[in-house]
Amino acid sequence: MQADLFAQAKIARFVSLSCGTAAVALAAALGKPRADRVFTTYLGGKSRDAARILSLAGLAEGQGVRTLVLNDLGQFGEVWGVLASPRWAEVVEVIASMEPGEEQWRALASAPVPVCPVRRSAVWVALQAGSVMGKPVVVRDGRWKTHGYARLSPAAVKLGFTARLNPPTLASKVSVVARGLARCEVVASQRDARAVPVVVDGLTVVYLDPPYREGTGYEYNLSRSDVVELGTAWHVAGAKVLISESEPVVIGRGETHHKVSVQTDQRERPDRQEWLTVLEAPDA
Ligand SMILES: C[S@@+](CC[C@H](N)C(=O)[O-])C[C@H]1O[C@@H](n2cnc3c(N)ncnc32)[C@H](O)[C@@H]1O
Repeated sequence: MQADLFAQAKIARFVSLSCGTAAVALAAALGKPRADRVFTTYLGGKSRDAARILSLAGLAEGQGVRTLVLNDLGQFGEVWGVLASPRWAEVVEVIASMEPGEEQWRALASAPVPVCPVRRSAVWVALQAGSVMGKPVVVRDGRWKTHGYARLSPAAVKLGFTARLNPPTLASKVSVVARGLARCEVVASQRDARAVPVVVDGLTVVYLDPPYREGTGYEYNLSRSDVVELGTAWHVAGAKVLISESEPVVIGRGETHHKVSVQTDQRERPDRQEWLTVLEAPDA
C-alpha cells in the first residue's frame, strides 16, 4: 500500500522551511478541501492562497508528496512531529477533554508550559486556535506568551458563532489533518531554517515563507540575505524553490516573479501584497 502511494507521488520531497500551518505543503500532498487541511488560524497562514501558489509554480493540489519535510522554529515545528507520530491520538484526546471558551483558554495560557511534548502540543494548539488575529503563541522562559484571546463580539454571539476555543470541533479538525499526514513520510523539526539539512532526491520542492520584510508578529526571523542564501543553496543542490514575500525576491538565478494576490482595490496596501518567486529546478 505504502509502496503504491510512493509510486504515484509526483513530488519526491516537499520541504517547507518555515512551515507554520504547512498549508501549501498539505495542499500539494493531500488535495483535500481547505477546511480539512488546517485546524487553526495563524498569522500569515497561506490556506487561502495555497492552490494559487501551487498553480503559479506549475504544481497542483493533491499532486502527491512522498516525503514532507516540515520545519518551523516556532511551536508548529514540534506539533507537526507529534501529529505525525503514533501519539497524535493522545493530542486529540487532551484537546477533547478541555472546556470551551475564554476561561479555559486563560487557565491554559497562565499555567506553566507542560513538560510532556504531547500535552504541550495539545495545549499549544488550543491556545493558538483561540489567539487573537491568529497571532503566534510562543514559549518564553517556560511560560506561554500570547497576544490575548479572540473574544467574540456581541454581534457575532447574536449571529450564533461559537467560542473560538471550541474543543470538540478543534479535536476533530486535528484528527482529520493527522490522519492525512499518515499518507506521507513526515520529517518534522523545530530548527532554524538554515540548519535544515539540504537533501534533494528526485523532484524536490522547497517552499520558503519567511516573516515578511516589513511585517511584525513572529518571535523569530529570517533576514533577506538568509532567504537569498537558502534559496540559492537548495537550488544549487537541484531543488525547485518557491518563496512567498510581499514583494518579488531577487536571487539572480533566473527566477520568475508572480503576483499571488489579485488586485481588486486601488488602495491595496503594499504590505498586503503577496508575491511568489519561483526558481525552477536546474535540470527541469
Ligand atoms: C509567514 S509564517 C509562515 C506561514 C505558513 N506558510 C502557513 O501557511 O501557515 C512565517 C513562519 O516563519 C517561522 N520562522 C521565523 N523565523 C524562522 C527561522 N529562522 N527558521 C525557521 N522558521 C522561522 C515563524 O515561526 C512562522 O511560523
